[in-house]
Amino acid sequence: MNGNIIIKNASELVTCSGFAAKKGQEMSELHIIPDGAVVVKEGMIEAVGTTKEIEAKLAKAESDPADFDFIDAQNKAVLPGFVDSHTHFIFGGYRAEEFSWRLRGDSYMDIMKRGGGIANTVQATRAASANELLQAGIKRLDSMLSFGVTTVEGKSGYGLDKDTEIKQLDVINHLGGIHYIDIVPTFLGAHAVPEKFKDRGDDFIDYMIKEVMPPVVERKLAEYCDVFCEKNVFSVSQSRRLLTGARELGFKIKLHADEIVQLGGAELAAELNATSADHLLQASDEGIRQMAQADVVATLLPGTAFSLKEPYARGRYIIDSNCAVALATDFNPGSCFTESIPLIFALATLYMDITTEEAVSALTINAAAALDRADTIGSIDVAKQGDLVVLEYPSYKFIPYHVGVNTVDKVVKNGNLVFDKEKGGMTYC
Ligand code: NIG
Ligand code: FE
Repeated sequence: MNGNIIIKNASELVTCSGFAAKKGQEMSELHIIPDGAVVVKEGMIEAVGTTKEIEAKLAKAESDPADFDFIDAQNKAVLPGFVDSHTHFIFGGYRAEEFSWRLRGDSYMDIMKRGGGIANTVQATRAASANELLQAGIKRLDSMLSFGVTTVEGKSGYGLDKDTEIKQLDVINHLGGIHYIDIVPTFLGAHAVPEKFKDRGDDFIDYMIKEVMPPVVERKLAEYCDVFCEKNVFSVSQSRRLLTGARELGFKIKLHADEIVQLGGAELAAELNATSADHLLQASDEGIRQMAQADVVATLLPGTAFSLKEPYARGRYIIDSNCAVALATDFNPGSCFTESIPLIFALATLYMDITTEEAVSALTINAAAALDRADTIGSIDVAKQGDLVVLEYPSYKFIPYHVGVNTVDKVVKNGNLVFDKEKGGMTYC
């Protein structure tokens, strides 16, 4: 595995070319090269073009073709690796029981108020050893990889105390070192108010800023700070204080905003120039306008609306308001227990009035932008990471059409073939 690979004869090379978040009409432009080819050398994309162009280039080049792996992508579409920019994939325990209560009519917030929900997972995560979290994390990442995900964001937030938040972040960082998927760690210490701080949300924010964030920063355990800005969780002013404190310490920021109630989270994201605001089911027109103006990426999580039986975020309206839209799974044990990229494609296209082209942009270049990485991943452009997905069908249009089914045939990460359905799955273990 040397990070050298050549893919030729792709019926569609869906480049998603670009180095920044796409807005409005740009989201529909996938920059497809028919009969496309791509060369990855030492993990980085070295050449992109038609098969003919690339063959001519290779004939002139000095590099020995024997140094490269080769994929013949005849009748197959090739896309950039998917970026899942919002997940909570490190947690202890499960909440299958709560899911069945929700099916009988309980709401997510009712369960949370009764001491279930996030608090339930906090207990199980505190009790879990780092190794247990690690082993579960590997399995979950393996599954994500099979769906074509090559970069994932992972949040803490099931500790709500210094030791457990750090334990979660340690596991996330460790996984980033050992797994093929690149991981962007996010500190979500303000995910709920723990029992110890009941009715003392402000004190909890102080505790987070003064005692938990400094060691996280010192050990470089997280790139982002996130907060659950929601009625009965953290108010807009508490979220503002937390995120401002985080930014002063060097974190980039993102928010869970306007998920259940219209609270002004979108407006706060714009005010603070957050990298992204996520969920936005209830975001106001004005909040969306301000986010578009401030270049905040709107990360929409249709799997959560689906699983909670809530109305979907207004995908069409948000794109038409010139706000860059990303899509992500929100994989977590409570509100959305799925890492399925095909499900996200299906929901976005069938229920949010998002076109297939826009959904592809939202899961590649715009998702990269939601992690401030549009310059290095999210498209098939020269000098970006060699992260690629080969579909088992000739067009990206098959992704939502083969509804709910995984259409990924192969995954290339940093120029190495790491997943191959034809060879029975993961190729490296
Ligand atoms: O994004 N909304 C807050 N956090 C997660 C759910 C976490 C959980 O229920 O465990 C979300 O939906
Ligand atoms: Fe979330």
